[in-house]
Amino acid sequence: MSEAGSYVIEEGGIGVITVDNPPVNALGIKTRLAIAEGFERFGGDDAVKAIVLICGGRTFFAGADISEFGRPPQSPVLHEVMRIIEDSSKPVVAAIHGTALGGGYELSLVCHYRIAVPSAMVGLPEVNLGLLPGAGGTQRLPRIVGVEAALDIITGGKPIKAKQALHLGMIDALAEEGKLREDAIAFARRILAEGKPLLRVRDRNEKLEGAKGNPGLFDDYLKKNARAFRGFKAPTNIVRAIQAAVDTAPDFEAGSRRETELFRELEPSTESQAQRYYFFAERETAKIPDIGKDVPTLPIQTVGVIGAGTMGGGIAMNFLNIGVPVTLMEMSQEALDRGIAVIRRNYESAAKKGRLTQDQVEQRMALITPAIGLEALSQVDLVIEAVFEEMGVKKDVFAKLDGICKQGAILASNTSFLDVDEIAAATSRPEWVVGLHFFSPANVMRLLEVVRGDKTSKEVVATAMALGKKIGKVPVLSRVCFGFIANRIMAKRSAEASAIILEGPSPQQVDKALYDYGFAMGPFQMNDLVGLDVIGRGSTERSVAGDLVKLDRLGQKKNGGYYDYDENRKATPSPVAAQVIADFAQFKGVENKGPQSDADIVARLLYPVVNEGAKLLEEGIALRASDIDVAAILGYNWPVYTGGPMFWGDTIGLPKIVEGLKALGIEPSNLLLEKAAAGTSFTRG
Ligand code: 3HC
Ligand code: NAI
Repeated sequence: MSEAGSYVIEEGGIGVITVDNPPVNALGIKTRLAIAEGFERFGGDDAVKAIVLICGGRTFFAGADISEFGRPPQSPVLHEVMRIIEDSSKPVVAAIHGTALGGGYELSLVCHYRIAVPSAMVGLPEVNLGLLPGAGGTQRLPRIVGVEAALDIITGGKPIKAKQALHLGMIDALAEEGKLREDAIAFARRILAEGKPLLRVRDRNEKLEGAKGNPGLFDDYLKKNARAFRGFKAPTNIVRAIQAAVDTAPDFEAGSRRETELFRELEPSTESQAQRYYFFAERETAKIPDIGKDVPTLPIQTVGVIGAGTMGGGIAMNFLNIGVPVTLMEMSQEALDRGIAVIRRNYESAAKKGRLTQDQVEQRMALITPAIGLEALSQVDLVIEAVFEEMGVKKDVFAKLDGICKQGAILASNTSFLDVDEIAAATSRPEWVVGLHFFSPANVMRLLEVVRGDKTSKEVVATAMALGKKIGKVPVLSRVCFGFIANRIMAKRSAEASAIILEGPSPQQVDKALYDYGFAMGPFQMNDLVGLDVIGRGSTERSVAGDLVKLDRLGQKKNGGYYDYDENRKATPSPVAAQVIADFAQFKGVENKGPQSDADIVARLLYPVVNEGAKLLEEGIALRASDIDVAAILGYNWPVYTGGPMFWGDTIGLPKIVEGLKALGIEPSNLLLEKAAAGTSFTRG
């Protein structure tokens, strides 16, 4: 018997193949062998009239085994297994629970029928790995849901709930929750009783007809989604593969050959390598070498948030969303009312878009206990402080919390830059103090930096990491330093951006170079959006932004900033800003070096980020290079298809980064020098 498969014949000649290969039944060699063996046994057994393919453990097949990509294929490959299933003369029913994703869902499409429990999800998420569904998904899905739905489903990559999947035709029936095996067997018996001829998805061509008469559909689709697809390679190949399904129908094999070609183009691409690396990087962040599964996490049933400003409100929403009551505390009734009104407005707007019901809005709002005064926080399990970014204020708050909060409460600060150890020292229980650094908007951004102080206990760190995951964030562990991981590395980009505009390149050229690199916007567009008064807050040194503020140019919100804006907020280069920059350059004695290429600008702004990342590793602030990449991608929208700064540095080549830094007069970090000299990398094995 195969290691991962078990094979039982049930009454009525229903052969049940159960595959169990933890954790997620990825279609690696062990899983493939288990399926193949089942079909070999039952195929030649006259007692078996129909076959049910079902998985043990937490999910149906979660897709191809991503860790096998780039390695020599081992037989039977996925296509061979699928051929065996599709050619079965006995009807095959896929019985789905958990998530049937990628190759897993594609495998269900070579079965003759698909039945799923209501909690199951199906989908083709390959686009998120920079790939296309290369096991027939681009050919078979349009044959059952139609071309337009298939385009959205495959380029979107989002899993679809069973009920919606039934509606779309992605599955054929719903089973009762918890009764998948019985219901699938009953379903198979019914099919046998009906005695209808077997229909393979590959032979169904009628849903492709409409698109055949509309060849412009695919170009239009790419044009319409140009913004969302920018920089990614996979969406275009997906669209072309679906187009091939239409163009070659009814010749299924011809379409499949095109799918394979388009898949092979993607697999070795840097973009796909980066996205696959990122898939594992995101999961790796949870692993902390000295904190194993034996370290207990503490129950967090109630939360207190101090400060209902920009951050506090968003932070509170994370907990309200999962049903955890929040005591929201402010200094004045007015600030409290304002903060709560913003939370309500956010929920109402989600409700308007159909993402929440009005009942859910009210339920969440009812979980807020408004409070003036810290005393209200005496019984909460976790306090998150989000008051002004001033050490004096923070210390005062923490000293008071020490006297008020129950023993065993976790005391967290959302500080962006300040020393968490110093904040902890204001209490008599520094082992209970931790940084929980959210990114703005805190209810949306998926990064959560968990800042581990010198004295923070392991239980508190483990609890913070687990809690982060629970509220849908990706927690990344950082040690204490100015700016932690994401802000510290990205501050280098801002500093170089401010410097380079004094030397010739305009803000718009710098912004365009970074936009073309893949950022959603450049640093100057970003500053104008946030507001130059906010950006320069607390700084006493003269700067271009400060000089613009002196002219009452605050950015988009008032009189323009680095750009001028029309009434539709469309930006144009600003002669006033250009003059301010020139005056400031003169004041600083910086010479205009004339124009620079976009590539030079990118190197100037981003090589120092790689260097700073190396320093974080050297100093032990970040645990691993991939954590830095996750922080940059989720905290600053660094384009995921570059893999983040460290993966990108490796792609460029570390010797080249070292050379570039030296040419800029920047000292490369020791770790960077070592790796460049040794020919090793941060992220490649
Ligand atoms: N291959 C290899 N390992 C996988 C995997 C896969 N397809 N999917 C998950 N894993 C691993 C994870 O790395 C993790 O390993 P770890 O415990 O050592 O860190 C473990 O399985 C559990 O995964 P999660 O922590 O993500 O578990 P969840 O329960 O949170 O989520 C899931 C389960 C929804 C299935 C999620 O893992 C997931 O989305 N997996 C990827 C699905 C996917 O992208 N499939 C397409 C693959 S490409 C493909 O099929 C190509 C084909 O078209 C030819
Ligand atoms: P904010 O100024 O919008 O809000 C701060 C709120 O705290 C105000 O409403 C104020 O009334 C209240 N407050 C001040 N002292 C208080 C006290 N003693 N007790 C109760 N309430 C008090 O500031 P913002 O932007 O929300 O920042 C808060 C913290 O979050 C800062 O430490 C900041 O560095 C950090 N942060 C900010 C981010 C951002 O993008 N705005 C991102 C990540 C962290």
